[in-house]
Amino acid sequence: MQINGFSKLSKKDKINWLLKNFFSNDIAAKQILEKYWFNDQDLQKLHDNFTENPISNYVLPYSVAPNFLIDNTLYAIPMVTEESSVVAAAAKAAKFWLTKGGFKTEVLGTTKTGHIHFIYTGSTTELFSFFKKIKTNILQQIEPLQKSMQQRDGGVKSIHLIDKTSELPNYYQVEFEFETVNAMGANFINTILEQSAVVLQKKSREILTDNLQIIMSILSNYNPKNIVRASVSCLLDELKTNELTGKEYAEKFVLALQIAEKDISRATTHNKGIMNGVDAVVIATGNDFRAVEAGAHSYAAQNGKYSSLSHARIKGNIFEFWLDLPLSIGTIGGLTSLHPLAKFSLNLLKNPSAKQLMSIIASVGLAQNFSAINSLITNGIQKGHMKMHLNNMLSLLNATEAQRKQAIEYFNNKKISFNELKNFLHKHQSRPK
Ligand code: MEV
Repeated sequence: MQINGFSKLSKKDKINWLLKNFFSNDIAAKQILEKYWFNDQDLQKLHDNFTENPISNYVLPYSVAPNFLIDNTLYAIPMVTEESSVVAAAAKAAKFWLTKGGFKTEVLGTTKTGHIHFIYTGSTTELFSFFKKIKTNILQQIEPLQKSMQQRDGGVKSIHLIDKTSELPNYYQVEFEFETVNAMGANFINTILEQSAVVLQKKSREILTDNLQIIMSILSNYNPKNIVRASVSCLLDELKTNELTGKEYAEKFVLALQIAEKDISRATTHNKGIMNGVDAVVIATGNDFRAVEAGAHSYAAQNGKYSSLSHARIKGNIFEFWLDLPLSIGTIGGLTSLHPLAKFSLNLLKNPSAKQLMSIIASVGLAQNFSAINSLITNGIQKGHMKMHLNNMLSLLNATEAQRKQAIEYFNNKKISFNELKNFLHKHQSRPK
């Protein structure tokens, strides 16, 4: 089953090879792949060019959560997610905060970093004076690569040498700080770093006596200086429910947040809920959700213990709830300009700058978090979840429209299990396949 040159096969031959080796030539497997091909050849070609070895398209729902008031602008938010309750939860929170001033945001910084990681066995003092001498050589060499970024007020903002030998013998870094404006900037950053590493290596051979060995040059997805804060606030009274006074609700909410600040088990799930909203917008706008995820979780552990990304407090009779999120995203370049739906998303969001998109994404994360905590401290999460999950289970059981209607009516406000639903469908009208 091992194969050489798979990438060189045509799409048809790739599929035939898979069918033969993994599906006993079952034509149904091929039909699934073909069902998701686009009729529009140009569109298919565009998608095929995104990665290596594409054989079909993997489709996720593209949804919209309306009524998001963010910094006094009203948005309908594009969200790509497979999790059934996420969009409904975001929309519910958006509507709740719409009448209370909406989401307010502040971009606290847009600095990205990258490093040349290297090993040097000689004297640290000698290395620092060498670096001082060659810093301008590095800057001169990368000047042409910075031109277009500098025209947009971006580029390399600082370069400095860091002694990391207390963490690993002979280990040093050259840390670069970047401003990449509206681009996520991964390619720009990595190009600059690799070119700078060439200069560092060359100059070290000319000037230094001891050996300097470049290990690697790469951007960092840990972005503690590329941060946005999204917040909401309201009077305690505005939080009252049928069972709880506004004050009781707020106190329970704040305690739920404190638990997430203190306890790693809860913090992880709590932050996962935030990322439900964040990732959905990051994907819809053609951004790199793995970079955003990695950055968010490392930031959540920045003090040496993994903790909540969001916080809440009561100040007098005001409830305050906020989220600090590192967000390395862009609104130009990469998939944002190539994927027609990413473009559509950015149009829907009124063609935001990267900073504005940071504000939007963090607000959705905060909304998602608000909905989750609201459910958890009141009715529990399953009620809302199961309602949406019921739809998925009905699809899985091939329920007819009539069965679907009856089941939704019958299971309204009831706990549902897959088996119960299966039995219910058996009893009602035509049998599911
Ligand atoms: C489920 O995808 C997300 C939640 O578990 C988040 C949370 O517990 O805060 C509901």
